[in-house]
This record gives sequence, structure tokens and C-alpha cells, in this order.
Amino acid sequence: MKPLTHFLLGWCVNSAAASVPGPLQLRSQQQQQQPIFSGAEGGASTTTSRSAPAYREKLLSLHKSLVDIPSISGAETDAAEFLAGYLEKQGYQVRLQEVPPLDPNNTSTPDAATKRYNVIAWPHLEYPHLPRVLVTSHIDVVPPYIPYSIDSSSAHDVSSDTLIRGRGSVDAKGSVAAQVVAVEELIASGAVRSHDMVLLYVVGEETRGDGMKHFSRSTDVGGRFEAAVFGEPTENKLACGHKGSGGGTVRARGKAGHSGYPELGKSATELLVRALVRIVDADLGSSERYGNTTVNIGTLEGGVAANVIPAHASARLAIRVAVGNQTTGSGIVRKRVEQILRDTDPDAFTLDWSEGYGPIRCDCDVEGFETFVANYGTDVPNLVGNNVNYLYGPGSILVAHGDNEGLRVRDLEEAVEGYKKLILHILRD
Ligand SMILES: *[C@@H]1O[C@H](CO)[C@@H](O)[C@H](O)[C@H]1NC(C)=O
Ligand SMILES: *[C@@H]1O[C@H](CO)[C@@H](O)[C@H](O)[C@H]1NC(C)=O
Ligand SMILES: *[C@@H]1O[C@H](CO)[C@@H](O)[C@H](O)[C@H]1NC(C)=O
Ligand SMILES: *[C@@H]1O[C@H](CO)[C@@H](O)[C@H](O)[C@H]1NC(C)=O
Repeated sequence: MKPLTHFLLGWCVNSAAASVPGPLQLRSQQQQQQPIFSGAEGGASTTTSRSAPAYREKLLSLHKSLVDIPSISGAETDAAEFLAGYLEKQGYQVRLQEVPPLDPNNTSTPDAATKRYNVIAWPHLEYPHLPRVLVTSHIDVVPPYIPYSIDSSSAHDVSSDTLIRGRGSVDAKGSVAAQVVAVEELIASGAVRSHDMVLLYVVGEETRGDGMKHFSRSTDVGGRFEAAVFGEPTENKLACGHKGSGGGTVRARGKAGHSGYPELGKSATELLVRALVRIVDADLGSSERYGNTTVNIGTLEGGVAANVIPAHASARLAIRVAVGNQTTGSGIVRKRVEQILRDTDPDAFTLDWSEGYGPIRCDCDVEGFETFVANYGTDVPNLVGNNVNYLYGPGSILVAHGDNEGLRVRDLEEAVEGYKKLILHILRD
């Protein structure tokens, strides 16, 4: 998922502290470089604990391979090619869908010359057809790269409690691995028909959502789905949706002058501060499902010297929208912010509102899941269509972008079962 504001993160910490994994133990460099399973230890029949599912080894190996490959947004090529190869070996029809570079006009960015791909995989060999369910997540991660490590030296030591860490182990390669294994399991058991599903692993989720937007725009592979299952860290709870997103830059224009004679100038910083306090204190809209709209004043700038009345000041706001619907929510909040700015001073302010959206509804009416509402952004609004959305995945948002990103084997395995249950729920009739 995308970065949370500190404000929202604070809220999450308080309400979910009990489920945060404890400090993850680092292994030595030498141990880190060993494969998790090798030689006789890695046999499929190895049972490492009474409750180990038959797919444990496959799941952990895929997860490790994905985390091992650096794939910071903009440089996802290796991860895409690995995953495409893996799925092809499993018998999928795979397409690498090229996505334009993040910053095509800047030749000094590492990704300017690198090809980026969404991975689209059909378990059914005859396509095009119309799968009912899109199973999707993202393969890009936030910086910096953190190598994979597992808190065990051999397969025999791995239990459901074993900790795994590394960049992307939670966000969202845990989801990717669990989804792939869940779909394989469902098809192998004959519980679902392979032509009902398609897998999509996109790039760029952590920055602009350009991978999913690109997929959505491509008419040859996009199409209409009944449902989409999005993999993001939800601690294996089913999200009822998430807040929307809005905000932008507020600029105040004043009149410079000597600080000893404030009546001769007009202080842009003072006006801005007065307006910001009103914005933070205001009811910008709330709803029973999503709670309150919240504001993070991310940056604040203004003035040139302590003894000069500032002519210019600006602040950048990130707002989590809890009012209206996907189409209307951001506009409702924008109008309220504009009104506050006008009430503070009719002509001092300009507001550059960034493209936003209102609360995103997901279906959480599925038996057997704990539910919650998320405060972070996802790719859900970037998939265009009338499909029902589900948002679910292993690991905690609280560690997702941190240097302690990690989860337990149990989380991954529960997620496989969760995805199976969700897909069966969608395809039940
Ligand atoms: C790149 O430059 C072209 C031509 O100057 C411009 O039309 C385009 O919008 C730019 N693209 C981005 C992503 O900035
Ligand atoms: C181009 O990319 C480099 C490296 O990422 C960055 O330092 C620089 O600021 C970028 N230049 C522009 C004009 O965006
Ligand atoms: C929402 O805002 C109201 C005041 O506008 C406050 O009383 C309430 O506690 C807030 N709810 C949450 C969940 O922060
Ligand atoms: C959002 O709300 C507006 C106004 O209430 C309504 O016209 C529109 O159909 C709604 N859109 C969705 C996607 O629910």
C-alpha cells in the first residue's frame, strides 16, 4: 500500500498494537545466503510440524524468491520476469505487459531505459476469454532494499511461528505468493474452473498506481470482471473498504514589509497558520463506515527572515477522505477547504488540489473473516469497472514500509486459506 501519514499511522498503532510481530531476529550474513530448503531437507514429504500444510515448501520458496529480487518502484523488471517464468512453468499463459517508465523525460533516473512489466497470467490456455475473477497485487516495493532472512537454519526448524523478514515480505510479496499458491490449490483440487480466473501483478503501486492504470486502460486484456481480489497487508482481515485521498498545496500571498510595522504589510505565514488551524479543527466530513476525514500538514514553508513580514507561505496537505463516495468524496472535501480559506481571507489563498478520490468500498460480507476499514491507499480505485472489490492479505501495515518489515509463516499460510475461501465465495454460483 501507499505510505500512510504519520497521523493515521499513530491511530493504527494504538488500535492494533497487539498484533504487531515482535522484533525479528536477524540471521548472520552466511545464513541469509543459504536457500531455505536444499537437498534432502527440501523434500515435499518433509513435515516440519504437525500442522504444516502440504504447500508450505512451495509457498515459502516462492515467497523467498520474490523477496530476494529487488523491485523498487520503477525498477521491477527482474521481479516481473521471474514471476512470469514461474507461472509459465506452472502451465499458465503469461503476458508481460509493458508499462511506460515512471519518469520518461528524465534520462538520469535508473528506470528511464529499463523495461517495466505488469505480469498477466491465465491459468486457462485458451484466451482471450472472460474470466470472472481478477486476482491481483503488486510486485513493486518501497526503498530501501532489505535482504530476505528467515529465523531458521533448515526446513526442519520451520514452524508456523517462524519469522521471515525483508523488503516486500509483507507489502506485497506475501500476498503475491499466497495468491499464486491459493489459485494453484483451487485448480488442482477441481474446486474452481481455471477459465474463471486471471492473475495480475502490477508495477508502480507504491508511487502513482501507473501499472494498474495502464492495465485498466488496455482494452485487449482489461475487460470486465465480476470481482477483483486485491492483495495488500490487512493482517488477514477482510477490509470493508478504505478512506479516499485528497489534498494539495495551499499558498498564501501577503505583502512584505518591516516587521516593526505589521500594519503596513500582510503576513502570509500568519494567514496560512490561521487557515490551517481552522482546516485541522473543522469537520471536513465523516461517515459511519469510514470515520472522520483527517488532515496531515506534511510540509510548511514561508517567509525569508525573522524581521521581514512574509509575502509568501505554503503548506502541503494529505487528506484522508471519509465522506461521499469514490466519485464525489474528494470534491466535497475540497469545497469545504476552499470555504475555510475564503472565510479566513477572501483573496490571499490559492489551492492546488491534487487529483483525489472518495472512500473506496470493498465487500466484507463474507462469512468467516474478521473485518476492518483501512486508512491507506491501494490500487483498488485504479481498476476501472463495475466489479466487486475484495481487499485482503497477510502481514501488518504497521511494519510494511519499515526496516522491520516481516511476517510469520502462519500469516502466509492463513492467507492461502483466506484467498481460497474468498475465491470460492465469489464463484459459488
Ligand atoms: C515529457 O515531455 C513531453 C514533451 O516535452 C511532454 O509532453 C510530456 O508530458 C512529458 N511527460 C512527463 C511524464 O512529464
Ligand atoms: C532525474 O532523476 C534523478 C535521479 O533519480 C534526480 O536526481 C533528478 O532530480 C531528476 N531530474 C528531474 C528534472 O526530475
Ligand atoms: C471524529 O470527530 C469528532 C469531532 O468532530 C470526534 O468527536 C470523534 O471522536 C472523532 N472520531 C474519531 C474516530 O476520531
Ligand atoms: C456517488 O454519489 C453521487 C451523488 O450522491 C451519485 O450521483 C453517484 O451515482 C454516486 N456514485 C457512485 C459510484 O456510487
